[in-house]
Amino acid sequence: MAAAILTVISFFILLCAAFAPSITPPSQDPWYDQPSNISDYAAGELIRSRSVPPQLVSLSSLQVNVSVKAVYQYLFRTTDGLGDAVASAVTLIEPCNSDPSKLVGYQAFYDSANVDCSPSYTLRADNKNLGFFSSGQNVSEDIPFIAAALNLGWWVFSTDYEGLKAEFTAGLQSGHAVLDSTRVVLDEGPSVGLSGNPQYVLWGYSGGALASTWAAELQPSYAPELKYAGVAVGGTTPNISAVLQTINNGSHAGLAFSGIYGQSKAFPNLTEWLDANLISSKSAQFYSIASGCLSQAASEGNGQDFYTYFKDGEASLYEAAPRSIFQWSGQMGIHGTPTAPLFVYKATGDEISAVADTDALVEKYCAAGARIEYHRDLVGNHETEAISGSASALEWISDRLNGKAVSSGCSTKNVSLSSLSNETAALLGEEMFTILETDLGGML
Ligand SMILES: *[C@@H]1O[C@H](CO)[C@@H](O)[C@H](O)[C@H]1NC(C)=O
Ligand SMILES: *[C@@H]1O[C@H](CO)[C@@H](O)[C@H](O)[C@H]1NC(C)=O
Ligand SMILES: *[C@@H]1O[C@H](CO)[C@@H](O)[C@H](O)[C@H]1NC(C)=O
Ligand SMILES: *[C@@H]1O[C@H](CO)[C@@H](O)[C@H](O)[C@H]1NC(C)=O
Ligand SMILES: *[C@@H]1O[C@H](CO)[C@@H](O)[C@H](O)[C@H]1NC(C)=O
Ligand SMILES: *[C@@H]1O[C@H](CO)[C@@H](O)[C@H](O)[C@H]1NC(C)=O
Ligand SMILES: *[C@@H]1O[C@H](CO)[C@@H](O)[C@H](O)[C@H]1NC(C)=O
Ligand SMILES: *[C@@H]1O[C@H](CO)[C@@H](O)[C@H](O)[C@H]1NC(C)=O
Repeated sequence: MAAAILTVISFFILLCAAFAPSITPPSQDPWYDQPSNISDYAAGELIRSRSVPPQLVSLSSLQVNVSVKAVYQYLFRTTDGLGDAVASAVTLIEPCNSDPSKLVGYQAFYDSANVDCSPSYTLRADNKNLGFFSSGQNVSEDIPFIAAALNLGWWVFSTDYEGLKAEFTAGLQSGHAVLDSTRVVLDEGPSVGLSGNPQYVLWGYSGGALASTWAAELQPSYAPELKYAGVAVGGTTPNISAVLQTINNGSHAGLAFSGIYGQSKAFPNLTEWLDANLISSKSAQFYSIASGCLSQAASEGNGQDFYTYFKDGEASLYEAAPRSIFQWSGQMGIHGTPTAPLFVYKATGDEISAVADTDALVEKYCAAGARIEYHRDLVGNHETEAISGSASALEWISDRLNGKAVSSGCSTKNVSLSSLSNETAALLGEEMFTILETDLGGML
């Protein structure tokens, strides 16, 4: 299904350049070096910038490169989960025939504790094909949605929100990085043609929703000056402990390995705990799974019983260090209430994070005054919702970028792929809409 969508989208993108030299992964590229005086920089301040060849990874098996007008990258200062100053990178993409008043922060679900899987590298043409995404594809399944946004003339930025240590699932680090990347893009964008006063939104699915929801929750306290017109999040994972339990032994078990490794990079006491609790004869295999890009972690971790890697099995995970970290850096809804309007979409059959956890999060935010439109999709699972739900998210985002007001308060709707409305068709273009309808038709 994804391949078909990729093929179609590639035809929509204007090809307006055709050159890119080979590129160096972040772990070996000095451009990513964090300066020793990092704490002298203000949160969201530019450290360095560069312009890279305006070519994104191929979106199709036809190997057509996606060209855009320009691609800029900024290294900026943000704040990690311990409150320390750290650097992170963001990529700003200008489409051909852009509308400089519209800006989308799209957080990719790169879901990896390896910095070489960061979108500032994997989005670019000629990356080393580390197996960025799902089976057989070296292209992010969410790239079609970046492409759809670009095709509508919107500027897009995508943040390496896990930071230079690739702290996958670390909520505070991820949220801060999204907020600080917004700051640097708003500051630096106008010098390359972005409006000085654009409408801007955040969008993300799954791991990208983790970063975007944490950003929305932390925004009132950490970046009160930012005024997102909206934040669209799907396939949300409000409670990381619960996700670990849900995915263990199944096809997504690999995420448990990279998730806990990612958190351990953020918190030294979790690293100590990991060192003390991993069964030494299984440690090499643990880190092999935990260090892969998403598709490698998924295939190596497939069906694994994560608990068997620890000396006390499942009980190890309930010790003080992991418990405190999961509560502090893996649980949404305890660090604030989003003031930006939210669109939340979630399949009731989501097999990675139970819908009840998202129901509870929405309820908690709403009780504290948030404005949320919540779509519970009665059809499908985590994978199908990424496609069908994102189509309705695109429509909602379009309304926000066009300045359409949201109603106050919260509304919850049970939907059955009804999000694929005629308006969505108009927005996506008939060809992509037809593909979606065809691929999802069996479920309609
Ligand atoms: C896509 O871009 C890469 C990087 O410049 C280049 O090596 C490759 O030949 C291009 N592919 C096509 C189909 O143009
Ligand atoms: C950090 O150090 C570099 C190199 O010495 C210097 O150019 C830069 O201005 C310093 N940045 C800040 C924010 O002090
Ligand atoms: C993805 O990358 C791997 C490693 O470079 C390569 O073996 C594989 O053929 C690629 N798959 C596709 C669909 O391009
Ligand atoms: C998160 O999930 C864990 C494991 O299921 C559970 O013990 C905990 O109560 C949950 N936290 C919240 C706030 O729901
Ligand atoms: C995982 O699967 C194994 C068998 O492969 C089983 O023994 C174990 O109880 C399962 N663990 C959980 C937590 O379901
Ligand atoms: C681990 O470190 C974090 C961050 O400093 C802290 O909040 C937490 O309480 C610590 N956990 C334990 C068990 O000491
Ligand atoms: C949505 O469906 C659930 C059952 O799946 C039901 O409990 C709930 O009341 C419904 N909500 C709305 C807003 O219709
Ligand atoms: C949606 O489009 C179809 C085909 O063009 C048309 O038959 C139908 O009436 C439209 N529905 C609405 C609600 O506009």
